[in-house]
Amino acid sequence: MAKLKRLPLVSFLAILISIPAIAQQKKEKLTAGRERININKGWMFYRYDDKGDNLIYDERPAVYNKHDDIVADSRPAQANFEGTSEKVLKKWILPSANDFIADASKHYLRPAGNPGENFPFVQEGFNDRQWQHIDLPHDWAAKGPFYTDTNAVVGGGMGRLPVQGVAWYRKKITIPAADKSRFIYFDIDGAMSYAMVWLNGKLVGGWPYGYNSFRLDLTPYVKFGGANQIAIRLDNPPNSSRWYPGSGLYRNVWLTKTNAVQVAQWGTTVQTSNVSESAATVALKINVENKGNKDQQVKVVTGIYNTDNASGVEKLVVNFPVSVIHIDDHAKQSVTNQVVLSHPALWGPLPQQTPNLYTAVTRLYVGSQLVDTYRTPFGIRDIKFDPVKGVIVNGRQIRIQGVNQHNDLGALGVAFNARATERQLEMLRELGCNAIRLAHNPPAPELLEMTDKMGFLVIDEVFDCWNQGKTPLDFHLIFPEWYEADIRSFIRRDKNHPSIIAWSFGNEVGEQYTGDAGADVAKKLAGIVKDEDSTRPTAASMNYARPNMPFPESTDLISLNYQGEGIRDAPAYAGLKGIRTSPLYPAFHSKFPQKMIVSSETASTLSTRGTYIYPVTKEISAPVNDTSGGDPRHRYVSAYELYTAQFGASPDKVFMSQDKHPFVAGEFVWSGWDYIGEPTPYYSSRSSYSGIIDLAGFKKDRFYLYQSRWRPDLPFAHILPHWSWSGREGKITPVHVFSSADEAELFLNGKSQGRIRKSAFEYRFRWDSVKYQPGQLKVITYKNGQLWATETIKTAGAASKLALMSDRKVIKADGYDLSFVTVKVLDEAGDLVPGANNDIQFSITGPGEIVATDNGDPSDLVAFPSKRRKAFSGMALVIIKSKSGQPGNLIIKAESTDVKPGNVIVITK
Ligand code: GAL
Repeated sequence: MAKLKRLPLVSFLAILISIPAIAQQKKEKLTAGRERININKGWMFYRYDDKGDNLIYDERPAVYNKHDDIVADSRPAQANFEGTSEKVLKKWILPSANDFIADASKHYLRPAGNPGENFPFVQEGFNDRQWQHIDLPHDWAAKGPFYTDTNAVVGGGMGRLPVQGVAWYRKKITIPAADKSRFIYFDIDGAMSYAMVWLNGKLVGGWPYGYNSFRLDLTPYVKFGGANQIAIRLDNPPNSSRWYPGSGLYRNVWLTKTNAVQVAQWGTTVQTSNVSESAATVALKINVENKGNKDQQVKVVTGIYNTDNASGVEKLVVNFPVSVIHIDDHAKQSVTNQVVLSHPALWGPLPQQTPNLYTAVTRLYVGSQLVDTYRTPFGIRDIKFDPVKGVIVNGRQIRIQGVNQHNDLGALGVAFNARATERQLEMLRELGCNAIRLAHNPPAPELLEMTDKMGFLVIDEVFDCWNQGKTPLDFHLIFPEWYEADIRSFIRRDKNHPSIIAWSFGNEVGEQYTGDAGADVAKKLAGIVKDEDSTRPTAASMNYARPNMPFPESTDLISLNYQGEGIRDAPAYAGLKGIRTSPLYPAFHSKFPQKMIVSSETASTLSTRGTYIYPVTKEISAPVNDTSGGDPRHRYVSAYELYTAQFGASPDKVFMSQDKHPFVAGEFVWSGWDYIGEPTPYYSSRSSYSGIIDLAGFKKDRFYLYQSRWRPDLPFAHILPHWSWSGREGKITPVHVFSSADEAELFLNGKSQGRIRKSAFEYRFRWDSVKYQPGQLKVITYKNGQLWATETIKTAGAASKLALMSDRKVIKADGYDLSFVTVKVLDEAGDLVPGANNDIQFSITGPGEIVATDNGDPSDLVAFPSKRRKAFSGMALVIIKSKSGQPGNLIIKAESTDVKPGNVIVITK
């Protein structure tokens, strides 16, 4: 057991008691005094397109510019409000923000009255039996159908799925009479959007921003000893997002029951300092609330536990000194305390370090009664942000090899699913990625539990815009009244996650363009961030602000989108309109020599997996357009991985710029996975082209280009394009190879096409004048003169069979766990048929269901739940969900005309 060295208490209100309470703690359950009940099951759901209920959060401006295909880096604009005849409820909703507004004089008072009470859906007696039965997490739009028309109410930008409109969720919950003295909270991890909640016909409150978690106190409205009717109204405006925001109660929802004396919501803060392998100081601040009518003497006892990996048992490592505080009725008080842990198991990113975790378990006693238990997982690590060396974790430099990730889970929409999230992270790990920027909003809390456990570094980000909107009805409409509450709640929820290294409070905001006025907004927001957490640096990503402008003064980190490697500056980008700049790393570095620079967005390389378009540019980076790299008829972008968004750069161009400026801490690629919405350059599609991994989870060629850089010790060679080009005989068909080798020789049907050595700032091998002839393409690669890796691909025969492969052989029979099954169309010899687009029919026997299919083709507008899906570039995906409490064997079958069917067995238990 680690040794405890007592330090003087920081809180002057706390009284130190010298006897550790270890013996007493052992006997008590680790959660006593508090209940957290998941209430995902058994909701009723109803949605309408028109407004129908005359209840709205606030008036909205008229929408004049509905274009959702504006270039992502165009300058944002301000809103024009118009007024509304509807009942505006915001005065009743705003008080939900009070706990997150520091200045008490600015707290909102709830007006008299109970708006909505006459609307049937909020009433207890309303008969909702005709409504749809659903379980949460639920995204009403993900099932589609996709809008296919050009002027659709939801266009490509928001993913062509029916997110828009008003929806209601209802559920009865029973609160026993025995809870009479308890406090009952409704905790919603995320509701998209403008949530307003009634209990038993009374408006309780709400939270407009769809990405933040929030709590409502139901206690004053609860009927103890009976059924209580919850009714939730959500309202998702069209033209409110640059990507697919999803819809509904799309994350977990909980009832939390506590006693009057309780740890406040997200009420603990763990901070570690003086971290070394021999010792670390762990400081803990606990916000205690007494919501009762009498003052109380409260004993606060906290132990630090670690989990034994083999047995899963939690073992006490050390206790904090015990504090006793006196709290008045209806008052709050914080306790600050610290211990020194000797030989701490440090948290650090994989693969270089180990992400060790601890849990602080806090217990509150009134007299001898244990009234609350609160768990705070945390990690002990030391992080420095060095302007020359970059990120230094526990004394070792860690280069950021990061990606940006959106909130959706591909064909599952945004409905949170742990396995789907874990699969995204696992594939990023395989890529060699060690860092994730959560673009551009707080994630599901469980995602951060995973990044903690899996050892990723994270930039947690809260906003994509402030006062200046990017789409007519986005967050800017509510920014003035909600920014403080959203920033504070975001940080309070997430601050104890060791994986989070920095707080980003804005992405490419319009305030970059408005000089001092914009910088003042940035400084105000940065101040709020610091007030909540002074231990992590602040960031606000800049695609426009230059070193000599006031905006970059406002943040600790210089976090650049595309400006680092240069925007529209390479020869192929001449003539394009928009932001243009040469690489700004040096200019920022000399203006801010004390600040670390990181590229929060790089690349925006675009491609569709397995599609190659000729001729191929000779440049190392070029913007895609209809005549170069793009196929407007099929809406494909060439997978030579050289084509980019107008403001983007190929991976090669980014690598070069990073290598020429070694003081830069690294990069976050736009984007790790494809996501729904923002289908630049073809807005009649449904999903993005920028992912290293496609929407179905299949690797694009680019995967291997990043892997060759991020895992330089992994011997492999990846050849592109495929070699099945009937009709291209004799035509120039460039061959590129991605490998961490330094030399390579290519052979076409045994004939050398030349041995190439990578020069400085070259990241791929390219043989640009190969003429296609069917047969075999082989590459032999070398590193430091030694054989490194070889790869052979050959011309495929006709499609002959379907082969299925599941990501895991066994899944949990919990009605939640998923199996991701990949289908490949193979020729007789067992090789992938790259052009195959067979129409595949899926079926399943056994206790499971097909929840979605996909193929990673952004232009495929067949609804996700369809059991029929065309293969794209020879592959398709089917997602299977287990049934709760029904173990057994699942047989997943795929059939298509003219080829042999295939199947795979997955066990659920
Ligand atoms: C950036 C923006 C991202 C995304 C990306 C698309 O300008 O910050 O959210 O839109 O471009 O390539």
